[in-house]
Amino acid sequence: MASITLNNIHKTYDDGFHAVKGVDLEIADGEFVILVGPSGCGKSTLLRMVVGLEDITDGDLLIGERRVNEVAPKDRNLAMVFQNYALYPHLTVFENIAFPLRLNKDAKLSEDQIKAKVAEASRMLELDDHLDRKPGNLSGGQRQRVAMGRAIVREADAFLFDEPLSNLDAKLRGQMRAEIAQMQRRLGITSIYVTHDQTEAMTLGDRVAVLKKGELQQVASPRELYEQPINLFVAGFIGSPSMNFLPASLKSEGGRHVLSSPIGDIPVPEAKAKAAEGRDLVFVGLRPEFFEDASLVDEDKKSKGSIFQVELTHLEWLGHEQYGHIEFDPDPEVKTMLSDLAKEMDADELRPVVVTTLSAESRVRPGTPVDLWVDTSRIHLFDPKTGENLTRDPEAGAELTRMAGEERQRQIDLAQENDRKKEQEGAGHRTEDAIGDNLDHGTEGEGRTGSHAQG
Ligand SMILES: Nc1ncnc2c1ncn2[C@@H]1O[C@H](COP(=O)(O)OP(=O)(O)OP(=O)(O)O)[C@@H](O)[C@H]1O
Ligand SMILES: [Mg+2]
Repeated sequence: MASITLNNIHKTYDDGFHAVKGVDLEIADGEFVILVGPSGCGKSTLLRMVVGLEDITDGDLLIGERRVNEVAPKDRNLAMVFQNYALYPHLTVFENIAFPLRLNKDAKLSEDQIKAKVAEASRMLELDDHLDRKPGNLSGGQRQRVAMGRAIVREADAFLFDEPLSNLDAKLRGQMRAEIAQMQRRLGITSIYVTHDQTEAMTLGDRVAVLKKGELQQVASPRELYEQPINLFVAGFIGSPSMNFLPASLKSEGGRHVLSSPIGDIPVPEAKAKAAEGRDLVFVGLRPEFFEDASLVDEDKKSKGSIFQVELTHLEWLGHEQYGHIEFDPDPEVKTMLSDLAKEMDADELRPVVVTTLSAESRVRPGTPVDLWVDTSRIHLFDPKTGENLTRDPEAGAELTRMAGEERQRQIDLAQENDRKKEQEGAGHRTEDAIGDNLDHGTEGEGRTGSHAQG
């Protein structure tokens, strides 16, 4: 296993397109880093440069201490799992997993060694019952696991995943997501995982690197990205439903500060007001869950935020909660800014609407004035032109990422302890099995022609 370091990495394609622009990223030994961003932002390009399938135009790539810019892919010892993983349809699951081992003539592995390695991978991936089957007879999730098994047996220094789950349906994706996360913890293997699905990004990674048009925006734990985003882009890209952006200007009178917005005047604390001072316009970032029906908020909590009156234009009842929509009508200039932002994020047109998450118990109705409470202690203010977050607290953010690091270590220890226990329990059974069960997985001679292994 090894760390991976990217120092000022650039990629300019032959046609002159500058796809990756000075990326600096250090991935610690055993760390799970997610690369996320809208389509075309350079995620695959970056990953392919790490694995060696694409030349690096400028900068240094290190695996461990070794600079590997000019090292051939096969000598980098990285295992890559692609979106369109190719299994060999005429080979059994066993042979598919064993494939890279047989391909590696230098290692000169005996048949027993190959069997042992495949057995270990298949136990981990719960493929033991399917080893003799052909890929055509497997479910999508099982096939995905075979592809991963092939990466595992290689004992690579790191795993690189390029949207490995995007071919699967939503349910299976959720299941595989959990499996990948657990497997990564158990193996403690350095991993880079590319996705444009922000749920995958938030749930899988120790740290998430957000990329926009070839430039790294922020690298932090999911919590830090969510609570202390560095700019409008990260704030809007991370979280679902997305953060609302509301144009506003500050009005201060006798020590009372309000953000005057198209949906009403929102009183804000001094600290937030300071960030907006001297500016004609700011974007207020409000996550949907910052809102609540004021009549359901207890007195203690009420004092942490403010109450303003508004009319909901639309209400969606989802059973466990409801989404209250507040449409507004911004200036044409603001409208353009919002729609440019939506384009950058690859999102649907950002409609000028504030989405609020209200308790399912709330009896508010659209078209009548309602009192909404909003947690103003958590709002962020952004410069609408540069996108900079004017209220970011870097120390609070760093603390969140530090805590995530500790939690990661705890989970790795726990997963590995569990694995040891399982192994000890299983040891007895396996010796018995081995005596009576002389499985022959031999598929020698089955055409392995014209195929190329990945990585
Ligand atoms: N061989 C190439 N020559 C020129 N431009 C390329 C080449 N390959 C990719 N690009 C461009 O580089 C940019 C980054 O492409 P890349 O495949 O890395 O995006 P991505 O972030 O992986 O997107 P997606 O989420 O759609 O997979 C895109 O604008 C793409 O059009
Ligand atoms: Mg891609």
